[in-house]
Amino acid sequence: MGKKSVSDFLVTENFALNRTNFLIRLKSQVKLPTIKPGQFVNIEIFNSKEIFLRRPFSVFEVDYASSTLSIIVKILGRGSKSLTEIQPGEKLSLIYPLGKHFTIPNQTDKVLAVGGGSGLAPMLFLARESGLPPENVDIIIGARSATDHIDVSAYQKYGNIQFTTEDGSIGTKGFVTDHHFLKNEIGQYDKVYACGPDGMMKAVAGLARKAGVFCEVSLENLMACGFGVCLCCIEPTVNGNLCVCTEGPVFNINDLKWQI
Ligand SMILES: Cc1cc2nc3c(=O)[nH]c(=O)nc-3n(C[C@H](O)[C@H](O)[C@H](O)COP(=O)(O)OP(=O)(O)OC[C@H]3O[C@@H](n4cnc5c(N)ncnc54)[C@H](O)[C@@H]3O)c2cc1C
Ligand code: FES
Repeated sequence: MGKKSVSDFLVTENFALNRTNFLIRLKSQVKLPTIKPGQFVNIEIFNSKEIFLRRPFSVFEVDYASSTLSIIVKILGRGSKSLTEIQPGEKLSLIYPLGKHFTIPNQTDKVLAVGGGSGLAPMLFLARESGLPPENVDIIIGARSATDHIDVSAYQKYGNIQFTTEDGSIGTKGFVTDHHFLKNEIGQYDKVYACGPDGMMKAVAGLARKAGVFCEVSLENLMACGFGVCLCCIEPTVNGNLCVCTEGPVFNINDLKWQI
């Protein structure tokens, strides 16, 4: 793992993307190191007296010229809610960059990136950073309903974005695994990546394994320290019990002891 830092970032923007997701843009006072898709930051919830543990969030975008990075925060509990209430001009303490990143595809690869919920953040970051021509990148984003999706039109130039909704209000009706790219055509891809709820990633992994396609997932185990000290993020793997924060969060599915 490369060098990690702890520092205060200035909140430059914080706005709602939909009912439950917010985009927070954070400016570093020093030059940012290289941050790759799948890596995350661990944020102190400074504006709450009751929350002592930092909360982990995947990096969504990085702009090295302005030393800013952004995250997408989905409101789940008190920590994430508190973050979405932070005002531009306030500061947040970040430990960064943490974890191992996704394998960057080869320039001839055909890839499929699958994001569910806030798991779309590292998937869009990967699509953008891959440097692949957009025709080589398919992206499926799953949500319950149309109102749970966010506007990702700025990312259409990095790949072919498809939506699924459980209620069929936009895109393919059902789960991401009901989309024909996954259900029927997974064999056409060189690499499949997924980030989202556990059930979704296991379903994607099951299809990829069956088709013999390379597949990496980014686990969202509960975390505290974020750098391998507290051991609260352990995941059983073929290489023993590993800390998701340091040995992951990105894992090849063949290394996980999932029953898929
Ligand atoms: C590597 C990594 C990257 C992540 N990236 C993002 C991201 O880009 N955007 C985003 O919105 N969230 C992301 N998460 C999840 C985010 O860290 C949690 O939503 C957040 O910590 C919840 O804190 P809270 O105080 O709001 O909720 P809490 O009050 O801590 O929890 C509320 C409820 O949610 C459950 N819960 C908490 N965390 C998780 C989790 N990780 N998975 C499933 N259930 C959970 C708790 O058990 C509890 O029932 C990421 C997590 C990890 C480990
Ligand atoms: S979060 Fe502490 S060891 Fe992983």
